[in-house]
Amino acid sequence: MTPPPSAPADAPADAAVPKASDIIIDCDPGIDDAIAILLAAACPEQVRIAALTATHGNVGLDLTARNARKVLTLAGRPEVPVHAGCPRPLTAPVHDAAHIHGGNGLGGIDLPDGEGGIAEGHGVDALIAEARHDRTLVAVGPLTNVAVTLIKQPQTAARWRRLVIMGGGVEKGNVTPQAEFNIFTDPEAARTVLTTTEWPAESRPVLFPLDATHQALLSPEWISDLAGSGGTVCRTAAAMLGGYDTPSTAARGGKAVHDAMAVAWTIRPELFETRSARVEVITDSGAARGRTVADFASTEPTADIVTGVDAPAFIDWLKERLMSLDAARSDG
Ligand code: BDR
Ligand code: CA
Repeated sequence: MTPPPSAPADAPADAAVPKASDIIIDCDPGIDDAIAILLAAACPEQVRIAALTATHGNVGLDLTARNARKVLTLAGRPEVPVHAGCPRPLTAPVHDAAHIHGGNGLGGIDLPDGEGGIAEGHGVDALIAEARHDRTLVAVGPLTNVAVTLIKQPQTAARWRRLVIMGGGVEKGNVTPQAEFNIFTDPEAARTVLTTTEWPAESRPVLFPLDATHQALLSPEWISDLAGSGGTVCRTAAAMLGGYDTPSTAARGGKAVHDAMAVAWTIRPELFETRSARVEVITDSGAARGRTVADFASTEPTADIVTGVDAPAFIDWLKERLMSLDAARSDG
């Protein structure tokens, strides 16, 4: 195979194979965060996890950071650093989702301790440092770390290859009738991130609202099939999903793995449809606090909002990828 023109003369023969892109996941594990990390780890040919940064969110920061380490170890990626970020929202009171994710954040499943400790350096400084390289940031928790990054160093926005956010709900919320958890938990941070003027037009944020994530629900049959499909990873993922209490989709008989879909966009964007829109975040103290308002008719869009999902393809692929992690583990 002929190396591409830019490859050095002594490059290996397979240098034309596209290099995996590097991602950072800013997360609050959280069961769907855990599935998102496993999915990223299961696609090493497409993405390389450069680092995780942990935020307060589904449970407290001490637990989310520790859970991130545990999930990386389960995924066979213990070398990936985890940096702890902000322990609370910018100004809002602390709000968690332990009633959805369990008191330990992982559905009560007691994963073995992760190898290694929490990396030195604050999560915000890690986000700033990593932005010097060509990275996509996938933010799947409250946006506090991302907002503080942009406040501390606004030019960081132009350095990300892309920011993919799980958050918001155009039609409805899941914490209040109007607000989704990641935005509701720190609306001031979400507003800072989504209204910053520093995003280049060609790489404005991609936003995965509930309207998109609720299109692909994992059924009880899918989860029990996963438990019997593979080894430790599939059994553990199924056990965590069993402890994931999701009232907003219960009537439809399934569970949304919101955060895993945001990671999926970085690997298989063809599974999703987006529409550009101007997005505002309501930070008033009334009933609309934390609501995301999308103006799809705007001629000055600020985000690409995911509106359509190839749900069967995503759901089948997710299982196949989780099974591949077991195949790669020596203990099955
Ligand atoms: C979001 O809220 C959290 O509970 C989940 O991890 C996800 O990021 C969904 O509203
Ligand atoms: Ca999350």
